[in-house]
Amino acid sequence: MNIIVINGSPSLKKGMTYQLISNFIKGCESAGATVEQIDLQTMKPKFCLGCMHCFYSKDHLCVHKDGMAEVHQKILKADYMVMATPVYADGVSGQMKTFMDRFVPLIDVRFEIVYGHYRHIKLHEKLPKVALLSVAGFYEMDNFDAVEEHVKKFTLHIQSEFVGSVLRPSSYILGMDQIFTDDVKKIKEGIVRAGAELVKNGAFSQDTLDQVSNTPIDKEMWLLGSNKFHEKCLEAGKFLPL
Ligand SMILES: Cc1cc2nc3c(=O)[nH]c(=O)nc-3n(C[C@H](O)[C@H](O)[C@H](O)COP(=O)(O)O)c2cc1C
Repeated sequence: MNIIVINGSPSLKKGMTYQLISNFIKGCESAGATVEQIDLQTMKPKFCLGCMHCFYSKDHLCVHKDGMAEVHQKILKADYMVMATPVYADGVSGQMKTFMDRFVPLIDVRFEIVYGHYRHIKLHEKLPKVALLSVAGFYEMDNFDAVEEHVKKFTLHIQSEFVGSVLRPSSYILGMDQIFTDDVKKIKEGIVRAGAELVKNGAFSQDTLDQVSNTPIDKEMWLLGSNKFHEKCLEAGKFLPL
């Protein structure tokens, strides 16, 4: 089984998205999958120009020559495409949005009716199924609502199938293994298990998703701790290590 992971976090290895991705990939590989990760921040795909060239040209290629066509070839060979993004301003990161806009070369401009809704015709018989990995800085799970809805709608847009979301709120807990040692260990084990479940079952179990999203402190403690940290950063004039 081939899995392609699209990393939409600009933080790369320093980020909490990376923690989610690296543990998830561990799980996928332990279950026998071959995984390739694409870091959009390194690749730097250009913004879609809206020129429609890729829709109408014979080769369906984008005018930008920035490596995205090669990524599209890899996507076409994958069984799953895992879209990993932090929540930014209640949405996906700019990197991930650019990736989604640049998907147009893989769809046909013409329309058909699918379950009563007009969709672009499939250009390729098989596109990979889609899973979402996301981290949010805030506490509540509803901070993922817009991102999850967007990625689900995107999946319909490209006429593929959405298989589920692995979501980690209070993302910075992932970097606090010195303070919350056992809790962080459990969360990371849950993420690894989610990766293995994707490969073995094509879906995530609710127990696993709950283990990944569990925050080991209550809301009031979270507020106090967060603001204390932010005040220290404000005093120092920079983002301090966790
Ligand atoms: C520009 C920006 C906007 C953000 N907006 C939100 C938000 O709307 N909701 C939220 O829960 N977290 C928000 N966050 C927090 C990030 O989701 C969080 O810091 C996450 O860990 C970032 O991913 P990374 O660690 O991979 O960089 C925002 C962070 C940044 C930098």
